[in-house]
Amino acid sequence: MIIDESFPWDSWRNLPAAQQPEYPDPEHVQRVTEQLRGRPPLVFAGEADDLRDKMAKAGRGEAFVLMGGDCAETFKASTADQIRLKIQTLLQMAVVLTYGASLPVVKVGRIAGQYAKPRSSATETRDGVTLPSYRGDAVNGYDFTEEARRPDPQRLLDTYQHSAASLNLIRAFTKGGYADMRRVHTWNAGFTKNPAYARYEALAQEINRAIKFMQAAGAEFEGLKVVDLYSAHEALLLEYEAAMTRVDSRSGDLYNTSGHFLWIGERTRQPEGAHVEILREVRNPIGVKVGPNATAEDLYKLIDRLNPDGEEGRLTFITRMGADKIRDALPPLVEAVEKDGRPVVWITDPMHGNTVTTSTGYKTRDFETIMDEVNGFFSVLSQSKSHPAGLHIELTGDDVTEVIGGAENLDELRLKDRYETLVDPRLNHQQSLEISFRVAELLREDQA
Ligand code: PEP
Ligand code: CO
Repeated sequence: MIIDESFPWDSWRNLPAAQQPEYPDPEHVQRVTEQLRGRPPLVFAGEADDLRDKMAKAGRGEAFVLMGGDCAETFKASTADQIRLKIQTLLQMAVVLTYGASLPVVKVGRIAGQYAKPRSSATETRDGVTLPSYRGDAVNGYDFTEEARRPDPQRLLDTYQHSAASLNLIRAFTKGGYADMRRVHTWNAGFTKNPAYARYEALAQEINRAIKFMQAAGAEFEGLKVVDLYSAHEALLLEYEAAMTRVDSRSGDLYNTSGHFLWIGERTRQPEGAHVEILREVRNPIGVKVGPNATAEDLYKLIDRLNPDGEEGRLTFITRMGADKIRDALPPLVEAVEKDGRPVVWITDPMHGNTVTTSTGYKTRDFETIMDEVNGFFSVLSQSKSHPAGLHIELTGDDVTEVIGGAENLDELRLKDRYETLVDPRLNHQQSLEISFRVAELLREDQA
């Protein structure tokens, strides 16, 4: 891939741009983005093309997408151990889902770039002091001081650096034999040994027998030692995304080289806005979050802007309705999109419509409410001509206490024990595995 230095990707500059940091020194931003433009791509055109093909398969019901990772990655927690545990969790979930769906699972991490956050309020007030909100490590610091909260463009270079290091780890872990399905499944055995998860033991045993059968029948396990794990993040910071948008020398096409899959958030999906504009012409597979207030008209406009020719796998709608709304809000949207005819991949994000604050002030989500939204999603899509193509969740490989419920009955009182997220509550390692067993059960019903 050759970088065309003269390429000015700036049509978005004339459009309204929500959720951008107010940098005190615009010239500093310019110096930083010039440097970024000279840095090598983080992902490559061929990889993005492969993922687009796989998303197309998921849209046709021939694959299932697992997209997961932190709400907000932080520079501090981008350690080898924490990234390894997250990858491990995603791979473990993928084995269970592959079995449940009897389909290939497309693995995508909210990893290696998920460092910027949209906020519902631009400022935060504590004890009468008002400062800019924390917008993710790509923008400012979490500490509640004027200095930490001041947006610093230098952080865009740190974002690039951390993303590159994380991608390097991902590539090593997924290509070096570590992801061998036989090994990954033995990790799951530890999970079902815990009496709390006994109800999943039978399914785990079935997977065990399936792997043994494959082995006995001489299946090619060498090939299965290598897996593809793609990188995704919200394309929020326009200066960063623009600087990472490059021309592919082979095809002359544009690619966003900061991640394989980019999505536009619920707060920035204005069809005539800068975020839609910045992803409009890149060839990557992209997503848009769709909340309960979206109308069929909104979705038509987004399809017109983002996938006018109806290319399969190009556009994913990630629905985040809320468990109490999805069964009413989603059917007319799916129907309208089907009527349009241009293909869309439907994925459920059962996290963002179900956030609550406890009386003690913790932002949390309830495991059963999350599952309720997943159930609603499956029942709506199963009654349509489209397919329930995947799951988008916030998770970590660590034993945090941020989401309540699950078979271990994590209750509100335990939230304080290990609450580490800086933005939204994540499923911990065990809760993530439990979700994968529950969704595997649903996928089987869907097949039956
Ligand atoms: C997110 O995915 O972390 C997020 C902010 O989602 P949404 O745009 O759907 O609110
Ligand atoms: Co979030």
